[in-house]
Amino acid sequence: MSKRFAELIAQIKAANEAYHADDTPIMSDAEYDALRREAAERLAANPELGDAAALEQVGAAPATGFAKITHNVPMLSLDNAFSAEDFGEFCGRIRRFLGLDASALHFVAEPKIDGLSISLTYENHQFLHAATRGDGTQGEDVTRNLLTMDCFPRTLPTSAPLRIEIRGEVYMTKADFLALNESQERKFANPRNAAAGSLRQLDASITAKRRLSLFAYAQGESSTPVTATHWDYLQTLQEWGFTVNPLSKRIAETDATSFMDSIGEARAQLPYDIDGVVFKIDDLALQTRLGFVGRAPRWAIAWKFPAERATTLLEDIEIQVGRTGALTPRARLTPVNVGGVLVQYATLHNEDEIARKNICIGDIVELQRAGDVIPQILGVVTPAPNRQPFAFPSHCPVCGSLAVRDSDEAVRRCTGGLICQAQVTERLIHFCARGAFDIEGMGEKTVLEFYAAGLLKSAPDIFKLPAHEAEIAAREGWGKLSAANLTAAIEARRSIPLPRFIFALGIRRIGENNAKLLARHYGSFANWRASMMAATEIGSDARLELGSISGIGPTIATDLAAFFAEPHNIATIDELASLLTISDAPSTATSSSPLAGKTIVFTGTLSMARPEAKARAEALGAKVTESVSKKTDFVVVGEDAGSKAKKAVELGVRVLSEAEFQALVAI
Ligand code: IVH
Repeated sequence: MSKRFAELIAQIKAANEAYHADDTPIMSDAEYDALRREAAERLAANPELGDAAALEQVGAAPATGFAKITHNVPMLSLDNAFSAEDFGEFCGRIRRFLGLDASALHFVAEPKIDGLSISLTYENHQFLHAATRGDGTQGEDVTRNLLTMDCFPRTLPTSAPLRIEIRGEVYMTKADFLALNESQERKFANPRNAAAGSLRQLDASITAKRRLSLFAYAQGESSTPVTATHWDYLQTLQEWGFTVNPLSKRIAETDATSFMDSIGEARAQLPYDIDGVVFKIDDLALQTRLGFVGRAPRWAIAWKFPAERATTLLEDIEIQVGRTGALTPRARLTPVNVGGVLVQYATLHNEDEIARKNICIGDIVELQRAGDVIPQILGVVTPAPNRQPFAFPSHCPVCGSLAVRDSDEAVRRCTGGLICQAQVTERLIHFCARGAFDIEGMGEKTVLEFYAAGLLKSAPDIFKLPAHEAEIAAREGWGKLSAANLTAAIEARRSIPLPRFIFALGIRRIGENNAKLLARHYGSFANWRASMMAATEIGSDARLELGSISGIGPTIATDLAAFFAEPHNIATIDELASLLTISDAPSTATSSSPLAGKTIVFTGTLSMARPEAKARAEALGAKVTESVSKKTDFVVVGEDAGSKAKKAVELGVRVLSEAEFQALVAI
């Protein structure tokens, strides 16, 4: 090792120790970053100094340093309720989905712990590994960090399944959080951030010095079922040595409000932060039938406590231009602490909202924050002297093009299209972001930097960046190692599944869910592209087929057609396709499923509730559409079926009775 490199490593080690372990920083962030950068540069220039692990050992940015673990059963989030009415609607949805009568539903109610979710896998009754939630499909491997905690069992009894994943929440108590913050200069904003910051440490010895706790509350993958109810599952977890929240209770639907009230009263005295109550259907067979919609289960809801509020000065109203050209106003505020989080911006949605709330620059406003939702302005507390109504711009603040508002829309949009720098860069940022291409290191800052430098004009240019690696390495703040990392991150994304590709294009109204629906329906990139081109013609079979995909509909079909009617969009897509491998949409069903890849139409009144029938078919890999065509494989007819049943017979499409359909989907 060269003398300077050894010196750098020693200084970084000392700084790490001081900051993470002793909680007394000995240098500023900027100084620390400079040391790390110099060490990384020297290492890249002279690999013989040691391997990259030498630098890793002395700490690195956590998110990039962890191995990834794939969740065989995705880790999902929860839908929220904010009132008894919302909770009632949630129960109503369950009843409708299952086709149930008015009899009461039974739940397990548990405090919603404000920490970070974790999944612990056991194999042959031994603890194997632990992963954070990550993006829900892949999390970070935090096994070594978990092993420093004594709040979970290392072995399970032999009665437990051979492979089982137990999920729960890692959190920090209020007292441990206060003690930690007192002992260090850099403060965590709240116990949740402190728990996350402590667990996601590359150096597990730092985690060991932080006091973290764990409540177990959910199931992941399991080689054999454990119990028939969630309540019994919680009892079993306790028998196995996990801590289950002692306030959890089995309740009838009618007791939900009083349970919520009692937990609300206890909240301030609890030794840990909670932000609501999670209600979960107790019967696990019912949970399976209910399944999931989007990223959340149908069988559970998080009923959140009322949001936290504060008042502050509205300093200015700024206009942001999004990737679809939408002009969105946001309020810049004098920073204020709302329930433990420093808030500087609040959303204002659109120009009508500003007028409706009669908000002017200089007003003292009341704002609220609920969970992770962007803070909102509730109204004016003290109007500014000589206040002037806010004049919403008629032109794009970025490119100066006219900003127009369709009569049926609340949003004003810039008409600049590709000449609008904001739209172009926002699209590029979206393209590289999570859920889309997810290119590590290509965040907002880098996209803007490369755009300004002329390295990046359109999405295909991203995949040409590796050819400019030397140029990037020479840029200020980069260096060989960072440039090589970026190349590797880009190369890792040259293969992409079709749903992510479609989502990445940033087409209006095509979010992750709609992208999945399209990918599942059309199967391959070539088929999707050809079908979309054909669908640009109003009234064509392809347009009708697109509009009849369940969940898409005619409005979204129009947006897609508008996108494909633009030659420059097609040129971009084709160039991307030539640079990438776009894999066919994954089928959610096993190939043995009789419904895999089939197109189904339901018609008439079924005894099974329609949403359940649809979800069951989709879970087995079928596509459900609304209208019958030659491409339909099955039409399931219930009572009083009308024209669709007739059309099926005319077209020679196979007609199934409900009983035949039930037999096909029986698990
Ligand atoms: S159940 C499929 N139970 O809340 C749903 N989640 O907003 C699995 N959380 O990601 C989650 N306390 O991190 C569940 N008692 C509890 C919880 C809980 C806190 C968190 C969890 C989840 C988030 C969703």
